Amino acid sequence: MNVMTDKVNSTELIFMDDQAISRAAASLKRGELVAIPTETVYGLAANGLDEVAVSNIFKAKGRPQDNPLILHIAEFSMLRQLTEGLSDTALTLAKEFWPGPLTMILPKSDLVPDIVTASLDTVAIRMPQHEKTRSLIRRAGIPLAAPSANLSGKPSPTTAEHVYHDFCGKIPLILDGGSCAFGLESTVIQVSEGRVRLLRPGAITPSDLSGVVQGVEVDEAVFRPLKKNETASSPGMKYRHYAPEAKVILVEGSFSQFREFIEQQPDDGKYVLVFSGEESAFSDHVMTYGRTEAEQAKELFAVLRKIDDLDAKTVYVRAPSLNGIGLAVYNRLLRASAFEVIRLSGDRV
Ligand code: TXA
Ligand code: MG
Repeated sequence: MNVMTDKVNSTELIFMDDQAISRAAASLKRGELVAIPTETVYGLAANGLDEVAVSNIFKAKGRPQDNPLILHIAEFSMLRQLTEGLSDTALTLAKEFWPGPLTMILPKSDLVPDIVTASLDTVAIRMPQHEKTRSLIRRAGIPLAAPSANLSGKPSPTTAEHVYHDFCGKIPLILDGGSCAFGLESTVIQVSEGRVRLLRPGAITPSDLSGVVQGVEVDEAVFRPLKKNETASSPGMKYRHYAPEAKVILVEGSFSQFREFIEQQPDDGKYVLVFSGEESAFSDHVMTYGRTEAEQAKELFAVLRKIDDLDAKTVYVRAPSLNGIGLAVYNRLLRASAFEVIRLSGDRV
């Protein structure tokens, strides 16, 4: 039986203990939606082999049907069932980075329903690091289709409370597995023999990938908006993301340049988002998002959600460094700002 996702009497948020895992596995097998934690962000999961269940994910999120989903697996045997003709490159990467925050786009097998892949001939697959979520997948015995568990266009959720905020009354069950270790969505790569194209940066960086395989390229869409009539390598790239109501402007340059620039901007609804430790240099309307790249990744989405509760008209964000997961932080901020960037100098931090 499938549950109507547009109206659910009540939404339960429960701690993800062993009993909760069994209950969630049974719900998923019945075709219901369950929000699950992962080490990147929370996902809105359904049985990835059940077309009706998967269609309910799209309805609940308000997600365009042409934006395909990731299948989450717990065993390498599932990888073989869901794909066709795995390359050595894909196997090497899977062995090195799974379980972990890496999604690989691979040729799909007939087992994968068209609704999951938006009728593409490839499927996105990831084996998450989150132990409890892997045991849920094992117990359910099915791959879980799961996009990030936010309403389409909102920042991805990094706590169970964020999911509750977006889906209260819309889905029956949310598993609380704590706050997400990385806080940004997985690295997405397209993989063929001897070639790896990075479509979405994440915790696994281009240099991590290059340390293991050759032919790693970063898709230009990581840094710039799609041109008119350009086809996205990953359909998700063409949608505006993570966007608060306020205008977000990303400002690149040194700290002193940033401070000087901010002083020159009109005061009307002006906020700044800077690195932790820098806030004392600004009189008020100041928010922070971490000091190191890893902290910035972990805190960014929660801060973007908070912006909507403020009377902010314009938020000037101090651009992060591109080191490590910083590239992913920068990429999400580019999207939140709809690529509105002010470059004060080549000197970033
Ligand atoms: O960390 C994550 O990846 C989280 C957790 C829940 O696993 N999931 C997530 O899913 O971020 P979602 O749906 O929000 O983002 C998946 C991205 C989208 O941009 C989508 O377009 C792309 O992966 N994608 C999925 N299948 C694809 C395919 N066959 N070809 C190209 N891009 C694909
Ligand atoms: Mg998403």
